[in-house]
Amino acid sequence: MAKKFYITTPIYYVNARPHIGHAYTTIACDTIARRQRMMGFETWFLTGTDEHGQKIQRAAEAAGKPPQQLTDEVSAEFRALWDRMGITYDDYIRTTSDRHKRGMQELWRRIRDNGYIYKGSYTGQYCVFDELYVDSAGPGEPCPVCGRPTETVKEDNYFFKLSAFAEPLIQLYTSQPDFIRPETRRNEVIAFVRSGLRDQSISRSTFSWGIPVPDDPKHVIYVWLDALANYVTALGYGSSDASKYEKFWPADVHMIGKEIVRFHCVYWPAFLMAARLPLPKSIVAHGWLLFEESKMSKSRGNIVRTETILEVLGADALRYFLLREVVFGQDGSFSFDALVQRYNSDLANGLGNLASRTLAMITRYFKGEVPYPSHAAAHTPEEDMVAALARHTIAEFHELFEQYQFSRALELAWALVAAVDKYIVENEPWSLAERSDENSRARLATVLYTSAEALRIVTALAHPVMPDATAKIWVQLGLGDIKKFSLTDLRWGQLHLGTKLGKVEPVFPRADKSAIERMQQMEEQQKTPPGATEAQSASAAQAGAAQGAAQGASQGPAPLNKPAEAANADGKITIDDFSKVELRVAQVKVAEKVKGADKLLRLEVDLGYEVRQIVAGIAEAYAPETLVGRKVVIVANLAPRKLRGLESNGMIVAASLGDGRPVLAGFLEDVPVGVRLK
Ligand code: MSP
Repeated sequence: MAKKFYITTPIYYVNARPHIGHAYTTIACDTIARRQRMMGFETWFLTGTDEHGQKIQRAAEAAGKPPQQLTDEVSAEFRALWDRMGITYDDYIRTTSDRHKRGMQELWRRIRDNGYIYKGSYTGQYCVFDELYVDSAGPGEPCPVCGRPTETVKEDNYFFKLSAFAEPLIQLYTSQPDFIRPETRRNEVIAFVRSGLRDQSISRSTFSWGIPVPDDPKHVIYVWLDALANYVTALGYGSSDASKYEKFWPADVHMIGKEIVRFHCVYWPAFLMAARLPLPKSIVAHGWLLFEESKMSKSRGNIVRTETILEVLGADALRYFLLREVVFGQDGSFSFDALVQRYNSDLANGLGNLASRTLAMITRYFKGEVPYPSHAAAHTPEEDMVAALARHTIAEFHELFEQYQFSRALELAWALVAAVDKYIVENEPWSLAERSDENSRARLATVLYTSAEALRIVTALAHPVMPDATAKIWVQLGLGDIKKFSLTDLRWGQLHLGTKLGKVEPVFPRADKSAIERMQQMEEQQKTPPGATEAQSASAAQAGAAQGAAQGASQGPAPLNKPAEAANADGKITIDDFSKVELRVAQVKVAEKVKGADKLLRLEVDLGYEVRQIVAGIAEAYAPETLVGRKVVIVANLAPRKLRGLESNGMIVAASLGDGRPVLAGFLEDVPVGVRLK
């Protein structure tokens, strides 16, 4: 019977467009899936999108679109990106699909019929950003996970008897130490469960964007139960054809980011235990990709788009960089400089150079045919050392990969690249080629055979990480389609004599400084919507200085960006013009002075569905500490601008007094964050 392997990514929320943080998880899974296939496993790799819940409903409202339209658009964007990157997913699940809804409802019925669901009422705090019930917070208190303000929820809900599973969960974690990886996450989960589990609300009744609860459609299923169920519904659980489910469930690996460990390691196994279904074999959590020192996320406005890197350096470069540079499980920083540096040192000068010099010399000195390595006089201990190192690399690489230590595995393989480079330099095949005696010729053959064989081994090992470039090198080595190669067979000395090389071409052209500039420019351009004029940019920059609300309607300086034809002859605007300005209530979470700028404050304001950074010229009128917790009005749909190197994503509305002093707009009544002013 074929060995089977089932791996999943988290399903991505469709309130944000894909960035390299999402790509990181997907790349890790794709690499593992490719390797498992090369190891002979029948592999199923699932990804998809998480499309229900209050967060998505609010994002759709903010975008002025029906939620189904927003989810269709963003889900398609994720999928198109994975296709463009050559991600080898076998299935793409969407939680708004019928197959998922059907399977989810079946899972609900099963848990209910087993006696683990009851009706109750919930009064407590809820974090919409994390879609998390926060039992520990009081009204107005922040979410302990993301720091955003929680909202008070008072609803009749269905509850899941999570409290019944504390013991079985502890039993699971202790009897299967590899269930949660890495160890640090496992310890956190154990501590959390030991601290006591309360029953969990698993439905919502104050909004409708979700899957109706079976037999009680006034309720929709809690989005995390809905989302987690994708791992079985995608296999056909609850449908008439459950053959995939029978074949691939339980999953071998649920790969996730560290922020969603609790949902996967506590709630998901408890739901499955309640349904009496088999549990996944392991849950592996990686760290965050940081950019400019904080977690890359849409709400912080510090994302890097994958497309930019694909266009300039290609998917293989990004894949290699992320897996080599970031210690898996820990947080790691992304920068364009580091990316290009790693690309040049390890790929252009490393593997790329080894491939082109070795293959070019075989082409030149042996008419493009792998030469015969001497076992006699022309053989030295140096060849034995390269062979021994290669054997060690094959064995260790495998071990490290099994432990998800991608970075160390690649480091090891590249140590072999460096050793072969040194071997070539020391043995000077180009000088040997100039001599016509038999011994030099035999030595030349041995040196080039040894180099080519080491190249073959690194290429095979690196294939799951860099599928395109390694497939090309494989063809250049004359070995055909690398997909047909079985990694379990990889041994030293398999390169056949006389193998005819393919056409030798460079696979990693060197990148110069302009590559960094190009990528930076492409990201900057993305932030400024096309068609924005200089004047618009200037006015947006002033926006940070709290000039007044909609500029066309304010008492402030004449609007720089108002196209003449947008206003009526009497200077008045229409309601349609006004409705283009998205004014919203936001709460200040962080306020601090901007170094070297007397007038500017850097604010982080919460909109309920996201937190933004705004740079505002109000430092002379407001001390930062007086602003934290205050509700303000912002223009939410202003093009982002950079002020003093900081991105300002919106503008705070204020009255501008005669001396130019700003006075922030506010409300007498308490108003929830995120609501729109119309
Ligand atoms: N929809 C939930 C997951 C439900 S799974 C049943 C969700 N979605 S998400 O889009 O917010 O994040 C999904 C995953 O994207 C994270 O778990 C993580 O793997 C990845 N990342 C998003 N931003 C990231 C970084 N900045 N860095 C690394 N990974 C990141 O949570």
